Formats: sequence, C-alpha cells, structure tokens
Amino acid sequence: MQIPETKVVAPHEPVLELSDIQGLVVPGFLKPHFTLLGGRFPRDAAGSIQPPAVLAFKQRLSTLVDEFDHGARTLEDRRAHRRFVRGNARNATNAQVAPKTTLVGLAFAASGLRALTPGAADIPSPAFQAGLVERSAFLGDPTDPAHEGNPARWKVGAPGGELDMFLVVAGDEREAVDTKADELANVLTQLGIEASYGEAGDVRPDMPGHEHFGFDDGISQPGIRGRASAARDDFLTERWISPSQTPEAWLFGLPGQDLVWPGEFVLGYARTSPDPLTPGLLSPTVPTWTRNGSFLVFRRMRQDVGLFWRTMRDLATSLRHLPGFDALTDEYLAAHLVGRWMSGAPVNRVPDADNPDLGGDRLANNHFRFNSPTTAVPLVEADYVDSFPQAAADPAGIVCPWAAHIRKVNTRDAGSDMGGQEATYSRRVLRRGIAFGPPLADRYAEPSSDPANGERGLLFMSVQASIEDQFEFLVARWMNDPTRPKTPAGHDLVIGQNAAPGAKRVRDAVLFGSGLQQSLLSTSNEWVIPTGGGYFFVPSLSAIRHVLAV
Ligand code: HEM
Repeated sequence: MQIPETKVVAPHEPVLELSDIQGLVVPGFLKPHFTLLGGRFPRDAAGSIQPPAVLAFKQRLSTLVDEFDHGARTLEDRRAHRRFVRGNARNATNAQVAPKTTLVGLAFAASGLRALTPGAADIPSPAFQAGLVERSAFLGDPTDPAHEGNPARWKVGAPGGELDMFLVVAGDEREAVDTKADELANVLTQLGIEASYGEAGDVRPDMPGHEHFGFDDGISQPGIRGRASAARDDFLTERWISPSQTPEAWLFGLPGQDLVWPGEFVLGYARTSPDPLTPGLLSPTVPTWTRNGSFLVFRRMRQDVGLFWRTMRDLATSLRHLPGFDALTDEYLAAHLVGRWMSGAPVNRVPDADNPDLGGDRLANNHFRFNSPTTAVPLVEADYVDSFPQAAADPAGIVCPWAAHIRKVNTRDAGSDMGGQEATYSRRVLRRGIAFGPPLADRYAEPSSDPANGERGLLFMSVQASIEDQFEFLVARWMNDPTRPKTPAGHDLVIGQNAAPGAKRVRDAVLFGSGLQQSLLSTSNEWVIPTGGGYFFVPSLSAIRHVLAV
C-alpha cells in the first residue's frame, strides 16, 4: 500500500548533544585497529591514592581533553567512510583511497572518578561503585582462585591492580594507533600514573569482522532513535525502510534493527516506554554532570578455539546416534548455539545450511523475528530486493534454540520472563569489542600445536545507561540462567557460565532435531574464560573540562 507523502508524519526524535558526548559512546569507533590503555594512580602503603598525582593529572586534563573525540566528529568520520565505500562501489574504475583517522576516548573507574571529584560517590550504580572484581562471581566467573578465570589470576584489573582510568585508541592503521597510544601512555607516565595495561585488538586479517571461533560478529546493534542535529532527516542511525510504504519504517533502522530510545545508552535522555514511539522517563543524571555520559563495561575474554571446536565435534558425533539428529555436523550444531551461521546468516532464515550471500547482506542479515514470520520490507533503495528465504515463526525455539547466544541476549519480538516485546529494548547494549591475538589456523588444534599458546579472544566492550539493568542483566539473568528468558532453554552454551553457587560448572542447552526430537546437551568444557576488565564511566567532554580537570 502506498501512503500519500503528505500523510507521512515522522514521530518525535530527540537531538543528541553530540559535540559533548564522547564518540566512544555514540556513534562508537568502528575501526579495524584498537589499542586499550589502562592507568593507575600511585597509592601509599595503606592503598590510598596519592593526591599529588591526582592534582597533576587534573591540571593536564584541561588540555588533554582536546585529544578526546566527540560524537559529532566521530559520526562525520563514519559518514565520510561510508560515502567513500559507496562511491567506490559505484565507480570502481576511479576508486579512491579511504581517509585514515585515529580516534580516542577516555573513561574512569569509580576509584579514579572519586579521586578526581568526590561527588562521583553519588553516582547511583552499586555495580560501578563496587567494580568488576566485586561483581565477578555474580557474573558466573569461577570463584576458585586457582582457576584461570578467577579475578586473582586476571591479566588486567586483578584485585590490587584495578584500573583507575581506561583509554581507547582506534584507527584505520595499526602504526598510527600505536603512535597515539604510546604518546598517551607517555603522558600518563610523566604524570606519575602507572600505565599498567596496554593491549592491541585488531580485526582478523584472514576473516575481517569475524570473532575467533569463526562467526561474523558485530552484525546486530540496536539503532538509536534520535537525530544528530535539528535537520529533519539527520538521523543518527540511517533509515532504510520506506515510510511512504509502511509505518514499520519508524521502528527500524536497517530491517530488523530496532530503534531504541537514546536514554538506554546515554544519561539524560528518554528511555524506553511500553510504546516504542513514545519516550519514557529520562535516564537519571546524578550528579548532574553525568549528563551526556555513559557506562562502559570492558571484559577481556580469552577464547579457547581448539576446545570449542573439538567439543562441538564430540557433541555432534554423540548426537548423531539419536533419532532426529542423524545428519548433524559440528558447524550445524555451533551455528544453532550461536543463532547464526559462520557467515552471519541467521538460522531462522536458512535453518539447514549456511548462505554466505545472506550473511554478507546487511539489508537482509538482521531481518528476522522469533515469534512471527517475516516478509520482505519495502526499502528506500527501491531497486534492492531481499530474495533470500524469509523466516518462519519460531516461538518455541525449534529452529533457533532459546539457549542460542543471540536469542539469550535479544528476545526480539518474543515476550520473556520480563514482560512483553518492549522489555527487550531496555536490556540492549551497544557492543564495541574487537578481537585480540592471532587466529588459530586449524580450528581443532590441540594446545601443543598452537604457536600463540591460546592467547586470543575478544576485548569485549559494551556501552549502556545501566550496568545492572543491561550488561549484568543479560549475563547473569539470561545467559547464565537455564530457565530464562524462557524454557526450555538451558545456558548460553557458547559464551555463558554456570553461575549456580557451589555447583560443578556444567552447562546445558536444549536443542531440537527433525521430527521435534528434543535433546539436552551438556558440557563442563569452558572455552570463554574471563581474564580481566573493569567497569567504567565515560564522562561528557564538558564534565571533563568543568568538573574533572582543574
Ligand atoms: C567471547 C565472547 C563472545 C563471543 C565470541 C560473541 C559472539 C557473538 C556473535 C558471533 C554474535 C552474532 C553476530 C552479531 O549479531 O553480532 C553475537 C551477538 C551478540 N552478543 Fe556476543 N559474543 C561474546 C560475548 C558476549 C557478551 C559477554 C555479551 C554480553 C551482553 C554479548 C552480547 C551480544 C549481543 C547483545 C549480541 C546481539 C544479539 C542480537 O541482537 O541478535 N556477547 N555475539
């Protein structure tokens, strides 16, 4: 149905103060090379931060602040990159070289922020104030101090070595990122701050965009409902569905990409309400200078790729003896535990085999729901046709199990133990992670034939308005709880932990074979091991200038 142009009324969308919000928060650094830096103020014998170093840092911060990129610049950088990619796609013979940039962001742990301004103690987030080490057991991390994933053995942010500040440097070229990171680490050292952590993360050279198990990552991000300026069409998240054809256009950026109110990610803006087009309450700004700031979670997660694939192979072999599972391969099993094939193609759209063309097609690869079937939606680019198989309704998790990673963390149109479909909007996070370490050439390799000795994984970062209601909720309440968001589910077998106190660290997942045969998979093998991190606050640039600096 064609809706007359005059009847198309865009719903209200807030303008975000992008020149005050750090680009690390919105729109995020979408770059192939990262270096993460961590700093720690010097302490006295009693463990108290020494004031002279804090004062020296505060003084330096008043000029250092110009190093940190705001959202407007970061958005312009991203748009320039997109224009370049699209321009080259249209005119391959006159292809241009992409502009190269390096972007920087700054965040503080509660310890660092409280040293800079005592008012930081009023930030009403128990998780932020306590820090990641304190919350680690709640997230399901091993409580046995001998276990590699226990905070006592972390490589960054271990007890007594928690970071006070965290800097993210991201860019198009490794060399430029290194140079900028060295420069910033030198600034910290000169101020008497220990630059106690520095680590590079890079897109995989063999499979750009894929995480180390081999799956395309970073496909599904929530869109942000809001504009970058007062201009009518200056949307933060590009709109792809044609509003003159369907009112659904106002719910999505790309097909399947929910538009979420910005207060779920930035403090001081409207959050979700039961109606997706109506703003909810503002995310709280206590103290007031936290407006335009956000919380950043960093988790260094080592991935044991060999163990993951060897376990998938063993589980597939034993499942093949059961009726309904006779054709099962390890790739099929792993894809159904992720919810997407390695190419990124959603299993709900192609349940039986991967379709790399669908995986690589951003106009189609996120267009599916769980409770209801999908049909192709009319796009602004009228000549594009989504001709891939559409998704059938899958409310019980027959195709994409309720235990699958993507279904555990985003229930899409399905209700959950938290309520109706809208309950999922307030659980969304903006993922900002990048892989670290070299790929494992043979995915089944034993540790003895791994030149990197297992040192590879994900530098997971997420941005959200509430660590408790978003990141921690997803991990502790949905990924690690076998009965939620809905049963029959099981744990998030790919990523999650078994957080049951005192229990053996066995994890289960329910999977359906043909003829609705149901099977319970079980393993105690752990292939995602937390090896460090921290909880941080990313202040606005005005808060850095007027509250944190001298
Ligand atoms: C080593 C650890 C992890 C790996 C290998 C991993 C891998 C993946 C993959 C392959 C996808 C599907 C592709 C995509 O949509 O981007 C995905 C999606 C996602 N992951 Fe993870 N992940 C990891 C940890 C986490 C953690 C700790 C969280 C915590 C909240 C998380 C939250 C999400 C979310 C929200 C999505 C998007 C789901 C959707 O909207 O469809 N992941 N992850």
